[in-house]
Amino acid sequence: MGRARLGRTNLDVSVASIGTGGFSRLGQEYGATAGESVRVLRAAMDEGIDFIDTAADYRTEEIVAKAVAGRRNSVVIATRNQVYRKGTEPTGDELTASGEVDPADLDPGRPLGFMLDEPSVRSLADACYRFNRHTPGADVILTSTGRIEHLRDNIASINSEPLPGPVLDRLHKIFGRVESVTAE
Ligand SMILES: NC(=O)c1ccc[n+]([C@@H]2O[C@H](COP(=O)([O-])OP(=O)(O)OC[C@H]3O[C@@H](n4cnc5c(N)ncnc54)[C@H](OP(=O)(O)O)[C@@H]3O)[C@@H](O)[C@H]2O)c1
Repeated sequence: MGRARLGRTNLDVSVASIGTGGFSRLGQEYGATAGESVRVLRAAMDEGIDFIDTAADYRTEEIVAKAVAGRRNSVVIATRNQVYRKGTEPTGDELTASGEVDPADLDPGRPLGFMLDEPSVRSLADACYRFNRHTPGADVILTSTGRIEHLRDNIASINSEPLPGPVLDRLHKIFGRVESVTAE
């Protein structure tokens, strides 16, 4: 497992780190029990992950507390209070209407499908994690899942090579002028 210094802190943490919010909330979003989510976090720690991201708003702090019981001194935890959203995230149509994305560059039915045509790309998730891992300025990459098989795939993606040059060039051509889109 690669190591990284976390931002401007002196904390040394695993490059692959686990996020407990987002679309999965450790599987809580689709009905996982607290015990199942605890198992995902413990599997992450067993794989060498020692940075966990949570927030009051995610409602996963108690699950994190249970998972790190007895191992608290070997993990770094980030948490924070409620995050308020300003505005909504732009849709693909809005990005083309604003001129940030040229519709001629985009296949609307399969906007990122070209990445899957590359033999080294195993899935869209693989491409996303590899893209982020090798973006200058990214210290650690949060992976967020309620499934241990996804966790292992994602750690492998985070620790694998950058996307091929032609894929990066095409991503840059399509999205290089987009100014702000959140993770959603
Ligand atoms: N999203 C935000 O706006 C946001 C904002 C602030 C902070 N964060 C932090 O960043 C972390 C990561 O954000 P994110 O939610 O955008 O996480 P992500 O890791 O980019 O995506 C998570 C989603 O992808 C699915 N997934 C994960 N691995 C997969 C795989 N190998 N194959 C197919 N599907 C897969 C998960 O479902 P399964 O459970 O089925 O795997 C879940 O629905 C959050 O947990 C949080 O700590 C996020």
